[in-house]
Amino acid sequence: MGEKILVTGGTGYIGSHTVVELQQSGFEVVVIDNLSNSTATIIEQIGRISGKKPRFYELDLCNEAALRVFFRENYDLTGVIHFAAFKAVGESVESPLKYYHNNLVSLLNLLRFMEEFETNNFVFSSSCTVYGQPNELPVTELAPIKKAFSPYGNTKQISEEIIEDTVVSAGLRAILLRYFNPIGAHESGLIGELPIGIPNNLVPFITQTAIGKRQKLMVFGNDYDTPDGTAIRDYIHVVDLAKAHVVAIDRLLKGDNKKNLEVFNLGTGKGTSVMEAILAFERVTGMKLPYEITSRRTGDVPRVWADTTLANLKLGWRAEKSLDEMMASAWRWEKNLAAGILES
Ligand code: UD1
Repeated sequence: MGEKILVTGGTGYIGSHTVVELQQSGFEVVVIDNLSNSTATIIEQIGRISGKKPRFYELDLCNEAALRVFFRENYDLTGVIHFAAFKAVGESVESPLKYYHNNLVSLLNLLRFMEEFETNNFVFSSSCTVYGQPNELPVTELAPIKKAFSPYGNTKQISEEIIEDTVVSAGLRAILLRYFNPIGAHESGLIGELPIGIPNNLVPFITQTAIGKRQKLMVFGNDYDTPDGTAIRDYIHVVDLAKAHVVAIDRLLKGDNKKNLEVFNLGTGKGTSVMEAILAFERVTGMKLPYEITSRRTGDVPRVWADTTLANLKLGWRAEKSLDEMMASAWRWEKNLAAGILES
């Protein structure tokens, strides 16, 4: 049996894919999730893919007493990968205190018990949102952190600072992973993104439109200073992203980290416009996607894509999957959802 890793938010989108990759690399995984934005069925699905259901604790990280009991029971943890957080940008503007409370108190509780129980290896789920609209592209890890557009984005910035300070004062070793835009689903079609209500993100909106759940896709602006006028992002396959977490925790466990706090961008290094994303979806599915150009969405940056040199060199990791594979897997997942895969 491999080392024992806690994945918080392990029934969520990126978390569930990471659990699978960890298990397939020989780690023993325990999952904490409060199911606020996911379902326990995902644990069964993970078991179907890997052949082993991870031990699951339905628990809120803000609940100090319950978390203490968890750490007592799991004193043999060697690392933690922390995904559990609220992530809807718009909702965070409506309910900032809910976001600050949940995302920060859960982090504080986790770090406190990690210190107390001497679990010293920590991988944190951060976002390229910390860069805002960077002055230079592709954006490197050295780019300045800009004032956040939303309370959600600010919780990522504050969390990074909390971890940075904890690394200095406690025995913590941490890796901050700044994701660009994760999309797609596991090739098995058994796990994927599960937006509750109307999706905010582009690809779930595309697949829900294609399946007939939404009438048409709104393209938020075609008057940006980009070749086709639509905004550019660095879309990365969620399985590639999940694999980077395995490499990161392994680096800490082996003591291969060069500093006690390291930061890596996780993207493909390639920018794709909204129109290019739509065309890729149409290409791989052979479908025509109904869409309409509307005005820009408040807070959207025109262009951002990653410089991934650091992750490529230091982690020895590289995103491998193409945009077409991202779209094909997202579509397979949407069709499986429509066929009731999570209900069976
Ligand atoms: C968003 C968040 C980001 C967060 C990430 C998590 C904002 C401003 N940013 O990133 O902080 O870390 O999600 O996944 O919300 N688009 C459309 N029509 C749609 C949906 C999106 O045209 O119905 C466009 C957007 O304008 C954008 C691109 O598609 O140009 C990608 O949007 P999205 O998937 O929401 O990701 P981000 O906005 O980059």
